[in-house]
Amino acid sequence: MNRKVTVVGAGNVGATLAQRIADQELADVVLIDILEGVPQGKGLDIAEACPVEGSDAQVLGTNDYKDTAGSDVVVITAGIARKPGMSRDDLLNTNYKIVKECTENALEHSPNTILIVVSNPLDAMCQVAYKVSGLPKHRGFGMAGVLDSARMRTFIAMELGVSVENTHAFVLGGHGDTMVPLPRYSTVAGIPITELMRPERVEAIVKRTASGGAEIVSLLKTGSAYYAPSAATAEMVDAVLKDKHKILPCCCFLEGEFGIKGLYVGVPAQLGQKGVEKIWKIELTAAERAALHKSAAAVQELVDVLKL
Ligand SMILES: NC(=O)c1ccc[n+]([C@@H]2O[C@H](COP(=O)([O-])OP(=O)(O)OC[C@H]3O[C@@H](n4cnc5c(N)ncnc54)[C@H](O)[C@@H]3O)[C@@H](O)[C@H]2O)c1
Repeated sequence: MNRKVTVVGAGNVGATLAQRIADQELADVVLIDILEGVPQGKGLDIAEACPVEGSDAQVLGTNDYKDTAGSDVVVITAGIARKPGMSRDDLLNTNYKIVKECTENALEHSPNTILIVVSNPLDAMCQVAYKVSGLPKHRGFGMAGVLDSARMRTFIAMELGVSVENTHAFVLGGHGDTMVPLPRYSTVAGIPITELMRPERVEAIVKRTASGGAEIVSLLKTGSAYYAPSAATAEMVDAVLKDKHKILPCCCFLEGEFGIKGLYVGVPAQLGQKGVEKIWKIELTAAERAALHKSAAAVQELVDVLKL
């Protein structure tokens, strides 16, 4: 194939993402990790599924960044994941060092790539990658909102007994407890959910969405979610590789949009081959705007700890 995606980190999210990209024949995939044998073994296993899946994507597992050269998209999933009782913010210092190192190595071999960050705490890690890479802001962004919106869509579909395909959900802000699900902009067949459910049911869905990651962590007991996170990341990779001009909630560097400056926060973004083509500015009520600013302040606190 003439498209190449590098997935850094061959753990749960990274390997599942590599599998999705290969299965969907989106691109050739290079899976890289510091663990010797793990990316090679998982890469070969994924490659051996391709004949059954009907995909001619090439999949390579490696420990050598030279193999990643010329990637169209690099996705960083390297780092430690949450355990029960941990917040995403508890991962800050460890993942800072890992994301910094992975960004530097990946960019050295793929200077023209689009960079998608997945490692947590997501918004702060986007800021790390942005600072380290020196990439223009449209080429470096993060995955969180697509996942959070997918969780909200799942809960809406469960509540109303409708197809998930009829649902649309909007979640803005940082990828943490302060995220901002927006019921007014979340719809079923175009109808806002605020017109379809009692306010207490809407509130329950908002709450469950905001703690969606913690719900999975507490069930798994070890590690965090990866099926939905990898599906969400694959949707973003697909939008870039196919130049779809698709509007998705992404963690983007803001320079005054929504009254936020110099910070990565989740907002509606239009994705295409060049990365973030446009940030869509939507009208917010005073309460929604205040919630978004509270969420941005939580991101800023982490960024300040890292002195970025
Ligand atoms: N943004 C989101 O919505 C979202 C969702 C799920 C998980 N995450 C985050 O993604 C990250 C990965 O989660 P996971 O479940 O795959 O974890 P995991 O522990 O299964 O995998 C992480 C992998 O990173 C590798 N790694 C560590 N240091 C590395 C380095 N310097 N270079 C290359 N590889 C390195 C490890 O060896 C491991 O294989 C975590 O930080 C997690 O919190 C984010």
